[in-house]
Amino acid sequence: MHVPVVIIGSGPAGLLLSHLLHVRGIDSVILERKSRDYVESRIRAGVLEMGTVGLMRDVGVDARMNAEGILHDGIYISVEGKRHHIDMKSLTGGQTVMIYGQTELTKDLIAARLAHGGDIVFGAEDVSLHDVESDRPGVRYFKDGTEYRITCDYIAACDGYHGVGRQTMPKETLKTFERVYPFGWLGVLAKARPAADELIYASHSRGFALCSMRSQTVVRHYVQVPIDDKIEDWSDDRFWHELRLRLGAEDADLVNEGEVFEKSIAPLRSFVAEPMAHGRLFLAGDAAHIVPPTGAKGLNLAASDVHYLSRALVARFKDNDDTLLAGYGVTATARVWKAERFSWWMTSMLHRFGDENSFDGRVRQAELDYVLSSQAGKTMLAENYVGLPY
Ligand code: APR
Ligand code: PHB
Repeated sequence: MHVPVVIIGSGPAGLLLSHLLHVRGIDSVILERKSRDYVESRIRAGVLEMGTVGLMRDVGVDARMNAEGILHDGIYISVEGKRHHIDMKSLTGGQTVMIYGQTELTKDLIAARLAHGGDIVFGAEDVSLHDVESDRPGVRYFKDGTEYRITCDYIAACDGYHGVGRQTMPKETLKTFERVYPFGWLGVLAKARPAADELIYASHSRGFALCSMRSQTVVRHYVQVPIDDKIEDWSDDRFWHELRLRLGAEDADLVNEGEVFEKSIAPLRSFVAEPMAHGRLFLAGDAAHIVPPTGAKGLNLAASDVHYLSRALVARFKDNDDTLLAGYGVTATARVWKAERFSWWMTSMLHRFGDENSFDGRVRQAELDYVLSSQAGKTMLAENYVGLPY
């Protein structure tokens, strides 16, 4: 079997890339090691830059997002219980963000791919990539014990942080950059009304907290926890009590409690792999980079990567022009590093590192004071949060 593009991974990056190619008449196949149910059950973030919204609209997979998504003009930043509004819409000349769960976006894209005859192989095991430096790369995988081989023109590794794509890059070519943070996020999904009309990022001496939402009846809240905390250390009651404490006395009653139906702890890291391309192999999304969730950039970087990659592949197949493909790594990485900086900055500024009485601790407090009292500081935060231009 030969196909123009083989995509590894049916997360947002792989699915959106496949559909962006499809609407321009370019065939692809997606090889996904997990089942469809597993992929559609993963709980992820929920803030879409309008660039990401625009891509969903470009491929015509926006009906449910338009119906159920919630536009937000700003965010709140709470410091020791004092809440400040960042009016991003006015600070950025009208730009906003949309609240719509990544889980829902993934379901919408899978449904669209399959409805348009898209080829997604769920349960594709032991995927291996071959001859990526030739003009005829190949992919081998197993499904239900049978071996399959596909030749293609290009391979897009959209297979996340633990994927096979980055591991196929020659060790002497690949350079990685990483920062691991000394804490994690305990996140819950609960059947409750949102704490406020927009997201609340809280920086408190007890630690960071975030009040987010999935709809008017489902909330997604987080608290910073020590890196070695376990789920069993956190009863629902303890979580709700801690969240209220971190919002401060004035805002504690904003929190509406409800039935918790998902609870998990995730570590925070910043990670970038360069280059994002080697021969006929291209990395996109978490396969190439990880951001701490404080800046809500993970999904949106996957979207901008596949915007660049799909545009480059279309130029190659439709106009026989390799220029954008040759420039993909540099173009995508430039935007990645700006989002990495913003995500690191938001994480460093809002979390507690246990060093409040050190030079670094005082500088962090001063950073927060400056940003919240400066038009330039708030504008910088706003234009990065809504998303820098593609
Ligand atoms: N073979 C086949 N599929 C694989 C392999 C492999 N060797 N390794 C990983 N996968 C699949 C995973 O099962 C997953 O479905 O690749 C997919 C990668 O999807 P994501 O991890 O969601 O990555 P991406 O599409 O880049 O989206 C990034 O998802 O994880 C969040 O926070 C992240 O919001 C960001 C977004
Ligand atoms: C979420 O709703 O899951 C969410 C929102 C904003 C973030 C991170 C996560 O910065």
